[in-house]
Amino acid sequence: MSLFTINQEKCKRDGICAKDCPAQVIVWKNKDDFPMPAKDAEEFCINCGHCVAVCPYGALTLSMMPVDTCPSVQKDTLPNPAAIRHFLTSRRSIRQYKKAPVPHDLLHEMIDTARYAPTGSNKQQVHWMVFENPADVNRFAALVIDFMGLTLPFINDDALVRRMKRIIASWDNGEDRIMRGAPNLILVHSPADLPFAEADCVIALTCLELYAYAHGLGTCWAGYFTTASNMHAPLIEALGLPAGHRCYGAVMLGYPKYKYKRIPQRNAALTTWR
Ligand SMILES: Cc1cc2nc3c(=O)[nH]c(=O)nc-3n(C[C@H](O)[C@H](O)[C@H](O)COP(=O)(O)O)c2cc1C
Repeated sequence: MSLFTINQEKCKRDGICAKDCPAQVIVWKNKDDFPMPAKDAEEFCINCGHCVAVCPYGALTLSMMPVDTCPSVQKDTLPNPAAIRHFLTSRRSIRQYKKAPVPHDLLHEMIDTARYAPTGSNKQQVHWMVFENPADVNRFAALVIDFMGLTLPFINDDALVRRMKRIIASWDNGEDRIMRGAPNLILVHSPADLPFAEADCVIALTCLELYAYAHGLGTCWAGYFTTASNMHAPLIEALGLPAGHRCYGAVMLGYPKYKYKRIPQRNAALTTWR
C-alpha cells in the first residue's frame, strides 16, 4: 500500500504538501504533476500528518491517517494573544488542595489533549501513569521523605540539607510538603535511550498542566518525587515502570482551595540579543 494517496479531483497540484514535508518524502515537480511518494518514503516518513493538515483541499490521505480522521482547525475558537498571555502569566503552582479527586473522565481528557504536544521526530513515546487513589499519592510522599532522610548524610550543600530537614520536620508534624495533600498524581515516563525523552515528557506534562488550569484545576510539579522516583528502590518498585524507562516529571493535581487574585512579579528574562 502506498504511503499516501492523492484525490486527483481535489488536488490543485500546488506542491504545498511536498514543500511542507519535514522529511522530504513527497516529490512534486511542477504544476503538471501530482505529488508522489519519494523512494524510501515509508522508511523516512515520521507520520506527522503535516501533508494531510496543510492541504487546503483535503486532497491527501496518508495511509495511517485518513483525511476524515483529522478535524478542521476552527479559527474562531483560537484564543487571542492577550488572552493567552493572561492565561500563561496567571497560572500558579497550587499547594493547597480540596480533598475531592479529579474525575476519571477529566483526567482522561487532559491526557488526550496533552498527547498532541510536540515530540522529537514525532516519536510520541510519552507514557503516562495516573494515580487516582489519594492513598497512593500519600504513600509516595512517605517514600520520598524516607529517601530524603537516607540521602541527607551524603549531601554537601548545606542550604539544601537545611531545606530538606525542614521538609522532613513538617512531615513529622503531619504536613505534607512533598505532595501537598493533592488527591492525584500524574507522571510521565519514556524509554531512557530515546534521544529527546526528557524534553518530550516535560513538554507534554507542561501542556497537561496548562490544560488543567484551563479547567480550573490546580497542579504543582513534584520535583522531589521525580528525583526519588529514579533513585529510591522502594519507590522504583512501587511505581513499576517498564524496564529501560525513566520518570522525567510528575505533577500533583486536584481542585485548588484558594484562587489567586494577582500575578506575582518575575525576574526580567535572561536574554542575549545578537
Ligand atoms: C521542575 C520543577 C520542579 C518543581 N518541584 C516542586 C516541588 O517538588 N514542590 C513544590 O512545592 N513546588 C515545586 N515546583 C514549583 C515551583 O516551586 C514553582 O513553579 C515556582 O515557585 C514558581 O511558582 P509558580 O509556578 O506559581 O509560578 C517545581 C517546579 C518545577 C518547574
